[in-house]
Amino acid sequence: MGRLLPLLLMAAGMPAWTAQPVRARHAMVVTRERHATQAGVAVLRAGGNAVDAAVAVGFALAVTHPTAGNIGGGGFMLVRLADGRTAFIDFRERAPKAASRNMYLDSSGKPTEDSTIGYRASGVPGTVRGLEYASQKYGKKPWEEMLRPAMELASKGFPVSYGTAQSLRSSARGLSRFPESKRIFLRDGKYYEAGETFVQPELGRTLERIARLGAKDFYEGETARLLAQDMAEHGGLITAADLKSYTVKERRPLTGSYRGYSIVTAPPPSSGGVGILQMLGVLEGTGYEKAGAGSATAVHYMTEAMRRYFADRAEHLGDADFVKVPLSGLLDPNYILKLRKSIEAERATPSSQVHAGVFTGHESAKTTHYTIADAEGNIAAVTYTLNGGYGSKVTSAGLGFLLNNEMDDFAPKPGEANMYGLIQGEANAIQPGKTPLSSMTPAIVLRDGKPYLALGSPGGPTIINTVLEVIVNVLDFGMNVQDAVNWPRFHHQWMPDELRLEPGYSPDTIALLEKRGYTVKPVNAQGEVAAIRFINGWLEGAPDPRTEGTAEGY
Ligand code: GLY
Repeated sequence: MGRLLPLLLMAAGMPAWTAQPVRARHAMVVTRERHATQAGVAVLRAGGNAVDAAVAVGFALAVTHPTAGNIGGGGFMLVRLADGRTAFIDFRERAPKAASRNMYLDSSGKPTEDSTIGYRASGVPGTVRGLEYASQKYGKKPWEEMLRPAMELASKGFPVSYGTAQSLRSSARGLSRFPESKRIFLRDGKYYEAGETFVQPELGRTLERIARLGAKDFYEGETARLLAQDMAEHGGLITAADLKSYTVKERRPLTGSYRGYSIVTAPPPSSGGVGILQMLGVLEGTGYEKAGAGSATAVHYMTEAMRRYFADRAEHLGDADFVKVPLSGLLDPNYILKLRKSIEAERATPSSQVHAGVFTGHESAKTTHYTIADAEGNIAAVTYTLNGGYGSKVTSAGLGFLLNNEMDDFAPKPGEANMYGLIQGEANAIQPGKTPLSSMTPAIVLRDGKPYLALGSPGGPTIINTVLEVIVNVLDFGMNVQDAVNWPRFHHQWMPDELRLEPGYSPDTIALLEKRGYTVKPVNAQGEVAAIRFINGWLEGAPDPRTEGTAEGY
């Protein structure tokens, strides 16, 4: 079959050298972890819709993918229903009421590690209330049923994958600082090996309460009580009142167009949607794509678009409920034209010469993404996170789940780099109740008003560029969705002024980029995309080969 396959593929009209996505006729689930994928497919087969499956996958990943899957964090769910309605559910963490602008600065004004590790790093988690909101408004299956796969995975256990075993071991330093995390995730130093069964009884009990009593348990019940108590005992900020007052915000998705395609994506407090729309606008009309995917010229134009957007991001993006975000200015065709014209064909613009736009008349790091399409034509694209891998590394006694360190997505000191080396401004300064700026960018591309591509990725600020790159790989470079996901990625975020390249760019290309003035820095891997393309009556599921992700459909 090995030698026959290329011939068969060519006969079927497909180039033999392409990577093949998973194809199905009716429904598709793409996630970062196989048990979660299976949980989603089981829900769909049992008559649940894409949102039901998204709820089940969200809880399952909280068990099987502890580095980012969570109930102690938050995220965004982008929904497109078969009837064309769209919704953006913001269940991101909010700053506790006791948070304050300079809370992460020491007496000499230097940022401390407290925004990244320990009890003070967490924002008020939103995942449980967000999934419940989605289930009640857009799902059709009973809540309890959606939690069942996660409860079973937690209480009966599941075989640890090679990647998870490696990941836990490599995070041992941080996790071992907190006794519950050390006991549960590191087995007190007897690290899990691939294939061993990981049972999480405390998490199983927490999930069982949430299944029985709803999100109310997490925000006002026993879970809330234990969490608030643990926070109080360890100098954390989150109180029972913070938990009780947590609300989900349903927002209108951001929309735009590119070369006749419509893009539906994330509004603030994500900086991702406006980023991909601005960058696509800058690219449109440059003719950059004629040079071909991976060419120095294509990388150059895309990098210059990235550099310019990230300068704007640093200055203007924040929680639009607290600060004015000049969305129409950032997406104004005249401004975009000005950005495009400022790109020199043969020379990198040093970041020191790139400044955020000035708009008058203001208008009113580990993360995971999964994408689901059901047989009725509904789509759910979810990116949710603890922020850093294993979040704050804190597991509260008796609860069994890790807490986020999302407070580091604020600008602990406006103008100075956070844990992603990202500079952020006043718009993203800490305020009680405010939502930290995010880069999470679930996105759905429509062709002739019908779904064509749905995707997202983790990766902190690299998310925005990863999503952009996969979109243009399909739309501009004509790749199939799996090739588009596999293709080597790159990232520029204005400051530091360096172009990060995954392996896969030839020394010739790198030399050409360096000649143009880029400081090239190699990186191992960027992002973990989960994408679905809708084409010719097929659903094509593309997990990311950089991970242990899977796609399954029927
Ligand atoms: N915590 C990563 C993000 O929201 O962008």
